[in-house]
Amino acid sequence: MKTFYIETFGCQMNAHDSEKVIGTLVSDGYTQVEQLEQADLILYNTCSIRDKAEQKVFHRLNQFKKEHGKGKVFGVLGCVAQQEGERIFERAPFVSLVAGSASYSKLSQMLVQLEAGNRRVTGLSLDTEDAFETPFTRRDNPHRAYITIIEGCDKSCAYCVVPFTRGPERSRTSDKLLEEARDLARMGYLEIQLLGQNVNSYRDPSPAGWDFARLLRAMGEIDGIRRVRFTTSHPRDFVKEIVDAIDENPVLCNHVHLPVQSGSSSVLERMQRLYTRDDYLRRIDWIKKARRNIAITTDIIVGFPGETEAEFEETLSLLEEVQYDSLFNFKYSRRPNTPALALEDHISEEEKTRRLTILQEMQRDIQIRRNSALVGIVEEAFVEGYNQATGQWIGRTTQNRPLNFIHPEFPSPRDGATLAGTYLSVRVTRAGPNSLAGERVN
Ligand code: SAH
Ligand code: SF4
Ligand code: F3S
Repeated sequence: MKTFYIETFGCQMNAHDSEKVIGTLVSDGYTQVEQLEQADLILYNTCSIRDKAEQKVFHRLNQFKKEHGKGKVFGVLGCVAQQEGERIFERAPFVSLVAGSASYSKLSQMLVQLEAGNRRVTGLSLDTEDAFETPFTRRDNPHRAYITIIEGCDKSCAYCVVPFTRGPERSRTSDKLLEEARDLARMGYLEIQLLGQNVNSYRDPSPAGWDFARLLRAMGEIDGIRRVRFTTSHPRDFVKEIVDAIDENPVLCNHVHLPVQSGSSSVLERMQRLYTRDDYLRRIDWIKKARRNIAITTDIIVGFPGETEAEFEETLSLLEEVQYDSLFNFKYSRRPNTPALALEDHISEEEKTRRLTILQEMQRDIQIRRNSALVGIVEEAFVEGYNQATGQWIGRTTQNRPLNFIHPEFPSPRDGATLAGTYLSVRVTRAGPNSLAGERVN
C-alpha cells in the first residue's frame, strides 16, 4: 500500500489545490493517512506571502526529517516551491519533489518518476496553458465547496510574490465551471465559494466570453445551491454590475472582500495598486447604496516602505469612513523578486508593530459597534457544526459573520442526527468583536 500525508499552509486557493492534489493521489492508488509516521510520501503545500510563512516551511521540514524522516519521500508543493525552485534541494537535501501549482496537472507523471526512484523531480514551469482540472477533487467540507475560476495574477503589486509563485492569469471556461457547480449541487453541496487571486478579472476563454458578473449571476441560478461566495476582489477591476447581481439574487451572499492595503493614495501608488483612495471609496459607495446590506471586509498592510505617520493616519481615517465589518492586517514583509525591494526607507519592526496595534484597536471598536447593532434582529444561519465546549451550534450568516446559537428543541447532536448543513432563523442575543451569539427562533 502506498500512503501519503499532506499539510497545507496559506490561502484558500492553496487549501483547494490540496483537495485536488489529494484527489489525484487517491486516484493514483495512494491512501491518505492522518499521522505523518505512517506515510511513505510526505507533502507540504506551502505559502510564501510573508517571510514568516516561508520560514515555517523549512523549520517544519527539518523538524519532521529529524524525528520521522527515515525511508520517507518528501515533496514541497505550492508557492515556496515555485519561488525557491531547485534551491530547495540544497536547503533541504532530503526533499525529492519540488512543484508549483501551475504544474499540478502533471502530478501523476511526477509521482511515476518518484516511484521509479528519481530523487530530484521538479514541476516548475509557469508558462503552462492549462489550469489544474481534475475530476478527482477530495473536498474537506461536506456542505461548502471551493471552485477555482481563475489561476495566477497579472497585477504587479510592489510587495507581492503571487505573480511569481502562481504565474499569469488563466481563466477556466464558463461551461466547465457551471458543470462543476451543477455536479456539486447534485452531490448535495449547498454553498459554493468561487476562488481566484483576482476574481474580478475573470474572462471566459470560450466564445461566450463572460465576465465575472455574468458568471456570478449564472452561479446564483443553479438549482440546489443556497449560497455563493467569492474571493478575492481587486478594487481596480471591481465593477458595479457585481453589486447589481448581488442586489438581484439573495443566493449571492451579502459580502464583498475588497482589499484596500492602504488609505493613502501616495502609498497606493508606490504599491502599484492602480487605484486611488477616491477610486476605492467610489466602489465602497456602490456597495453601501445597494438595496441589500452588504458586509465589507478588507486587507491592510502597515509599514510599507516610506509610509509616513501622516500616510498611516490616512489608513486610520479610511477605517473610520468605511466602517469595515472585519479586516485582515499585516506588517509589510520584504519578499524576494518583488519591486518593493528596491524602495528605500524601510520601517522598523517596532514601528510596524506600533502601527498594527493602533489599527487593530481601532478596528476592534468598530466591530464591537457594528456587531452590537445587530442584537435583536433575526438572521439566517447556515449551520456548520456543533461546539461541545460551549454547547452552541456553529453558524454563519450570509454576511459571513460567525453566529453561534442555542437551539432549545435540539440542544446538541443526538443519535447521529445533527443540524449541520441546514439553514435556520436565529435571533441575535449577544455581540462580541468577532462573532455573534443567538437563539433559534421559529
Ligand atoms: N490577491 C489578493 C491578495 C492575496 S495575498 C488581493 O489582491 O487582494 C493576501 C494579502 O496578503 C494581501 O491582500 C496583502 O494584504 C497581504 N500581503 C501580500 N503580500 C504581503 C507582504 N509582502 N507583506 C505583508 N502583507 C502582504
Ligand atoms: Fe498580489 Fe496584487 Fe496580485 Fe493580489 S492583485 S495577488 S496583491 S499582485
Ligand atoms: Fe500564500 Fe501562495 Fe496563497 S503565497 S497566500 S499560498 S497564493
